[in-house]
Amino acid sequence: MAKAKKDYKRITTKSLVEMKNNNIKIAMLTAYDYTMAKIVDNAGIDIILVGDSASNVMAGHETTLPITLDQMIYHASSVVRGIERSLVVVDLPFGSYQGNSRSALDSAIRIMKESGGHAVKLEGGSEISESVSRILTAGIPVMGHLGLTPQSIYKFGSYSVRAKDYDEAEKLKQDAKLLEELGCFALVLEKVPAKLAKEVAQSLSIPVIGIGAGNGVDGQVLVTHDMLGMTHEFHPRFLRRYLDLYSEMTRAFEQYIKDVKSCDFPNENEQY
Ligand code: KIV
Repeated sequence: MAKAKKDYKRITTKSLVEMKNNNIKIAMLTAYDYTMAKIVDNAGIDIILVGDSASNVMAGHETTLPITLDQMIYHASSVVRGIERSLVVVDLPFGSYQGNSRSALDSAIRIMKESGGHAVKLEGGSEISESVSRILTAGIPVMGHLGLTPQSIYKFGSYSVRAKDYDEAEKLKQDAKLLEELGCFALVLEKVPAKLAKEVAQSLSIPVIGIGAGNGVDGQVLVTHDMLGMTHEFHPRFLRRYLDLYSEMTRAFEQYIKDVKSCDFPNENEQY
């Protein structure tokens, strides 16, 4: 990571392909606000994803479906103000690109114009190929997303591992190839068997970034609030928690409440 931070002053879609070619793993995390983006960017992350997981993490919805384009633009513009180096990829929310390619392009243009993000991410393969192509014609970089695609949760019925059977694995491989041929600059694979993810990563020239997709891919992405241990009710096998912020923050809040109630805070040095 330190090597990549020194070598790349500013991450572009080209630097990511270069990283893949040089066997430098790509590190990606989510952010939805200015303060978090500033910290994550300064730590040296390569890609910040303004994920539609903001719908769960920031707004408390059960799924990613309710978040709107306006809300995604609000989150993305806050993130963009906080970064100096990372590539900022913004999710196109549910309903903003599936219907027809013209509205997909309009949505992507709004994201780029109004948030200052650098690329968009769309979930799906052949079903959305027209939308992907049309967005690319406007010069907007597109990241694909296959495997578990949370915007289709009501079709899948659960958040379990995808593409475990032959037919689904074959469809995923074809979709991955198609997205590369259309011109996507990278691909996220979510919750698929590690062996399949490795095979896809090796067969493509664009970087493949995994979440619950094993170590044979070109990079990893996690939801920042999960890896910091702020969301303690979520325990998927793929999640490594680097902190237990839920407990740490609870301790700090409890101490603050105690200090206020006991008149310990503010003390003489904390007043004018
Ligand atoms: O919205 C999101 O956070 C995502 C990642 C889980 C890849 O799409």
